[in-house]
Amino acid sequence: MKLNNGLLALEEDYVFSEVSRRVRRFASQNPDARLISLGIGDVRGPICPAVTRAMRQAVADQARQRTFHGYGPEQGYQFLRQAVAAALTQRGAPVPPRDIFISDGAKTDLGGIFDLFAPGGAVLLCDPTYPAVRDDCRMRGMRPVSLPGTEANGFLPLPPAGDGEVDAVYLCSPANPTGAVYDRDQLAAWVEYARSREALLIFDSAYESFITDPKLPRSIYEIPGAKNCAVEIGSFSKVAGFTGTRCGYTVFPTELQVRGVSLQGLWRRRLASRSNGVAYVVQRGAAAVYSPAGRQQTARALAVYRENSRRLAAALTAAGLPHWGGQHSPYLWLKCPRGLSSWGFFDFLLQYGNLVGTPGIGFGPMGEGYFRLSAFGDPASVEQACDRLPRTLEFLR
Ligand code: MLT
Repeated sequence: MKLNNGLLALEEDYVFSEVSRRVRRFASQNPDARLISLGIGDVRGPICPAVTRAMRQAVADQARQRTFHGYGPEQGYQFLRQAVAAALTQRGAPVPPRDIFISDGAKTDLGGIFDLFAPGGAVLLCDPTYPAVRDDCRMRGMRPVSLPGTEANGFLPLPPAGDGEVDAVYLCSPANPTGAVYDRDQLAAWVEYARSREALLIFDSAYESFITDPKLPRSIYEIPGAKNCAVEIGSFSKVAGFTGTRCGYTVFPTELQVRGVSLQGLWRRRLASRSNGVAYVVQRGAAAVYSPAGRQQTARALAVYRENSRRLAAALTAAGLPHWGGQHSPYLWLKCPRGLSSWGFFDFLLQYGNLVGTPGIGFGPMGEGYFRLSAFGDPASVEQACDRLPRTLEFLR
């Protein structure tokens, strides 16, 4: 048996698994420690009533012969594709329901998308970036090419000069882990670049609901020409607390063709072999996110996370730690104090403050010396974390 070299070459542990391992070890050695997690971007829940009501109704549908659903369409039910398309269109990114493909979450499609490419192709990835994408790329035999995100470019790399071959570009905006957000001109530069190279722009919009400035694009399709070069991968995880329920979508515009081949057609063909769709109950719940009550209730949860971000940013500023993000994003990206490495600062915060964050190096080599805090916590814990932070940093003096 020949094993997958890309898989074999991955780091031994995924960053969040390593974080959990160190936290478990610390907790077992310090059973009285009151740990506060600002690590993995998991929502605190619960899912809002409009959504759970729709899911209960869908369970009742499954209990009756007349309304029972067996295998669903691989692409997703029309009711949810229509709701997603209407929401995007309302936000200035007109997309028809036929272009929407429902998934069990962004992570699944971010990995699966590399099925479209011949192995060995080059994929431009920001560094730091969402680590699952870099891993997926390597597992599928693609070649990740790093786009350094630095303080100087605001962690928003722009298209590189030169004419090296490029098959795909992955962009996440608002970005995980830095919280940086591309503006219209910057995204227009990427669209232009992808079109000129006949490369696929993979746009991850998982955190779009955190954008409050109407001038900042929430969808790549707000940018002219994007339908000819971009897919967009969206998620219900962060906007509606679906991290454990699992639902997302990918937009494959009809206009997206490579040498006369429709990528939408290829994706549909792939899905027919790979998937039997997403659970009916889950899709009913996701559709309710767009109902008037769903919108109001999810907006309330988002407001809580935004306030958490504001508090964390204020605490970091007061502690004199340079930081970025947090304004249109649930993530704050900070420079480790005293030249500590990312894992060094992780261990320090855990030991002296009982605070858990995510080491920047887990998002790529350029993340070394940086650290990510997530604002997806309950306000009382975030407030406690903000109190503990300056006292903890005293230990470094
Ligand atoms: C994160 O913490 O980066 C995210 O929660 C990971 C994810 O969405 O899979």
